[in-house]
Amino acid sequence: MRFRLLVFLASALILGPVQAQQPPVSAKNAMVVTSEPLATDVGVRILKQGGNAFDAAVAVGFTLAVTYPQAGNLGGGGFLVGLTQHGTPMALDFRETAPKAATRDMFLDESGNLIPDKSLTSYKAVGVPGTVDGLLQLQAKFGRLTLEQDIAPAIRLAKFGFPVSAALHRVLESERARLGKIGPTAAIFYPDGEPIAEGATLIQSDLGAALQRILADGRKGFYEGDTAAMLAAVMEREGGLITQQDLKDYHAKWRSAFTVREGEFELITMPLPSSGGVTLAQILGLSDLGVLKRAGHNTADYVQQLAEAERLAYADRNQYLGDSDFANVPISELTSRTYLSTRKKLLPVGHAGSNKDEGSGVLEHRQTTHFCVVDKDGNVAAISYTLNGTFGMGAVLPGAGFLLNNEMDDFTAKVGAPNTYGLKQGEANAIQPKKRMLSSMTPTVIMRNGRFFGTIGSPGGSTIITTVLQVFLNMALFDMNIREAIDAPRFHEQGWPDEIRYEQESFSPEAADSLRKMGYTLTPDPGLGQVNGIVRLPDGGLQGWSDSRGSGKAAGF
Ligand code: DON
Repeated sequence: MRFRLLVFLASALILGPVQAQQPPVSAKNAMVVTSEPLATDVGVRILKQGGNAFDAAVAVGFTLAVTYPQAGNLGGGGFLVGLTQHGTPMALDFRETAPKAATRDMFLDESGNLIPDKSLTSYKAVGVPGTVDGLLQLQAKFGRLTLEQDIAPAIRLAKFGFPVSAALHRVLESERARLGKIGPTAAIFYPDGEPIAEGATLIQSDLGAALQRILADGRKGFYEGDTAAMLAAVMEREGGLITQQDLKDYHAKWRSAFTVREGEFELITMPLPSSGGVTLAQILGLSDLGVLKRAGHNTADYVQQLAEAERLAYADRNQYLGDSDFANVPISELTSRTYLSTRKKLLPVGHAGSNKDEGSGVLEHRQTTHFCVVDKDGNVAAISYTLNGTFGMGAVLPGAGFLLNNEMDDFTAKVGAPNTYGLKQGEANAIQPKKRMLSSMTPTVIMRNGRFFGTIGSPGGSTIITTVLQVFLNMALFDMNIREAIDAPRFHEQGWPDEIRYEQESFSPEAADSLRKMGYTLTPDPGLGQVNGIVRLPDGGLQGWSDSRGSGKAAGF
C-alpha cells in the first residue's frame, strides 16, 4: 500500500497533478484525434455519416490543409499506416520525390560548400508533392463514402472561411518576419501587414478552387491541368525545378508495413523511405526492456541506457538509410539479432558514449502533423504528413492557395553536413531524380498479443522516432494511460549534436545531476513532439488524447 502511494506521488510529480489525475477522452465506438479541433470535428462527422476510418482520415487530411496551414497540406507529403477491420496492416507512402532535374550537388557552391538555406527557402527546396495522390488512392481503395463527401468539408471551410484560432494566430505572429515578406502568402495570412486576428474569418478562395479541381478531375485535377500549370510556371519563374512532367509522373506507393516485435507487443510502422521502422527496431533491439522497467521512468539509468541505444541507432540511420528503391540498404542485416548483439557490446554502461568533439546545431521551430482515426468496425488510420518546415518554404502557390514544402532539405545535401534537424546523413540518402528523401515520420499501430492495442504518431523531425518510442514504453512498461503516456516529459539523443535534449520537467534534479556526472550535456528543449493517439481498452471502448503541448482535440462517440 505504502509502495503504491509512493508510486502515485512520484508519478504525480513527474506528470504534474492535473495530467496524472484526469482521464483521457473516452468513446464507445469510434474516435478521431488531430492537432486542430475543426479537423477533428470534420472527422467525427464523416464517421457519423457512415464513413469508415479511411474516409475520416481523407477528410481530415484535406481539412487540415485549410485549417492548419502550418503543417496540413496539399503541397507536401507523408505516410499512412493502417489496419483493416480484418486485421490486415497497410502502409501508403506519399512522400515527395526529387524533381527529374535534381542533382546530387544542387545545394553546393563551386567549391563544394553548402549554400546556406538553399535547401530550405529557395524554390529548389520543393519536392514533388505527394499528399493529394496519397489521399486520393486511400479514398479510392478503402473509402466507403464518395470523394465528394470526404472533400466537401475542406472545400466549404476554404471558401466560406472559419474563425482563426488563438493557436493559428500565434504561429502566424511568430512567423511574421519571414512569411510577411512573401507576397502571395502575406496576401492570405497577413492582410494589412498584420497576422490575421484571432476570431477573424480566414477565407482561402484559391485553395477552395484548387480543392474543387481535385473533386472534379481526381488526380488529374492536381497533377495535370490548371494547378500543375500554375506550379510549373512559378517554378520556371523563380528558379525551381518541378515541371508538369514531374507532377504527371508522381505516384504514391503502397508498401508492406514494417513490423517490430517486442515481447507481447508488435509495432506496425513505416518502412523506408521513413527511417522510423528500422530505427525503432534498432533502438528496441539494443535495449533490454526488463532492465529499463526496473530502472524506472526517466531515472538517470533509464535515460543513459536509452540515450546510448539511440546514439548507435541514429549513427546507422544516418550512414545506411535512404530510399530503398534507389539505394541498396541492408535492412535485414541492420535489424538482425546477430548484428544488434555485436553493436550492443559498444554500449557504455553508466557513462556517456563518445563523439564529443562536435558542437550543437541550432534548431528552429518546425511543424509536421499526425492524426489518427479508429472506427466502429475496427479500421485504423494513422497519418503523419508535412511541409517539413512550419509553412514549408514559406510561399503559397499563386492561384492555388496552398503552401509549398521544403522537403528537399531531408536529403543529404552534402555528406556529413548537418541538415536542419542536425542529421549528418550519408550517400544512401543523396539526391537523385525521382528519389524520395529519407524521413523520420513514424505513424505507428501497436498490437498486443495479436490484437489492436493503440495507435500513435508525432511531428518533431529527427525526434519523432524517440518520441513514438517513449510513448510506447510509457504504456508498455509503466502502465500509463494514453494521456499520461503522451503528456509525460520526453528526452532525445541522436549522437550529433552530442547532447541529450530534454523537456525541463523530464528528470528530477538528482537524475539530471547524475547524468551530467556521467558525462552528458543536457540541453533544455521547449517541447519534443506533439503526439496524437488512441488506445483500445480491455472492455472494447476507446481512449484518445491530443498532446497537451499543442492545441488539438480528441473526440468520438
Ligand atoms: O520527414 C521528416 O522526417 C521531416 N521532414 C519531418 C518534419 C517535422 O516533423 C517537423 N516537425 N516538427
